[in-house]
Amino acid sequence: MPLVCLDISHVRNLSSVRFEPSPQVNVIIGENGSGKTSVLEAIHLLSFGRSFRSHKHKTYIQHETEHCLVFAQLHQDQGNPVPVGLQRHRDGQIEVRIQGQRAQSVVELAERLPVQLINPDAFRLLEGSPSVRRQFIDWGVFHFDSEFIRAWRGWQKALKQRNTLLRRGKISASLLAAFDQELIRLGEQVNTSRKAYVERLTPYFLKVLSLLNEDLKVSLQFFQGWDSQKSLEAAVVAGRERDIELGYTHTGPQRADLRVKAETGDALDTLSRGQQKLVVSALKIAQGQLLIDMGRPLVFLVDDLPAELDANHRQKLCRLLESLESQIFITSVGPDTTDFAWADTTDVRHFSMNNGELSLSSKGLQES
Ligand SMILES: Nc1ncnc2c1ncn2[C@@H]1O[C@H](COP(=O)(O)OP(=O)(O)OP(=O)(O)O)[C@@H](O)[C@H]1O
Ligand SMILES: [Mg+2]
Repeated sequence: MPLVCLDISHVRNLSSVRFEPSPQVNVIIGENGSGKTSVLEAIHLLSFGRSFRSHKHKTYIQHETEHCLVFAQLHQDQGNPVPVGLQRHRDGQIEVRIQGQRAQSVVELAERLPVQLINPDAFRLLEGSPSVRRQFIDWGVFHFDSEFIRAWRGWQKALKQRNTLLRRGKISASLLAAFDQELIRLGEQVNTSRKAYVERLTPYFLKVLSLLNEDLKVSLQFFQGWDSQKSLEAAVVAGRERDIELGYTHTGPQRADLRVKAETGDALDTLSRGQQKLVVSALKIAQGQLLIDMGRPLVFLVDDLPAELDANHRQKLCRLLESLESQIFITSVGPDTTDFAWADTTDVRHFSMNNGELSLSSKGLQES
């Protein structure tokens, strides 16, 4: 569901920014510190309820203001656009509204507005802890499999309870067994969904990567979090005594990972920074393409396009994004780095950002 119009108030240096983006390609150019990333941050907030730059909400609420607000109209194939809004208060309160009604949780926004981000921090997907890659998988499964969120929440709850018991100590393996049924049942469900998703994603990833760089040979391996030859039940039963010793559950879907391997070893140890960015971009675009093929359009945010990419790979990335037929927001410090020959049929809008003020640039005006 692309954004038909966007209204951002008090997010960092954006006091009040209101604009109508193109349903296809939007290029935002501006100097360092002008507010480009903040526009993407605001869109991300509207989808995830949190920033990609900081976990502390106070950092993105404009100084000396009480709250920030992001409001948008989301296009629907049939019917009028859907108004959605998110307000975040300095005291931490969060308010989400969809079609004038207060939503129960930000998950409702995420369902309506899937957003993918490619930014200079994207390397974290390769170099960060397995939890970053689990989040990546789970985002995809969440949009792919409507049953997943319920199983995931139940499993998380069971796991937390079990770990609390283990931390307190003095619990026997037989008592623990009584708590494990739900953990195993839901954990198996979470794992089955993740496995099916990674299987579905892999061919998409390989195709996208070959379009970005045909010489890069990278494979994906899903590690479920315990010995793949064993059921979760067998792993949990066999691990009980050790869990009691350690004081936490050491085996299960909470240890799952997505291993990204280059031909000669771990992708992180082998590939250059630019190649890593291509691999991460391919993973994210593959997730997007899979969603699009399911009839779920999404929004791509590409922050600081030129970072780590040479002109040839920038062009390839732009061509690929253009072919996705989704709504794209690209930021860059200079127009030369985004001067890609977009197809005549692509609706491209160029904006300039100056000190928190966004305007349709002359390039955009000439073309529109
Ligand atoms: N809470 C805040 N309130 C007001 N201004 C802020 C706040 N947090 C950051 N800023 C300022 O807002 C601006 C936002 O910068 P932003 O990161 O969006 O710029 P950018 O155009 O992406 O720059 P770059 O090209 O360096 O990435 C910066 O000038 C920063 O100092
Ligand atoms: Mg920036």
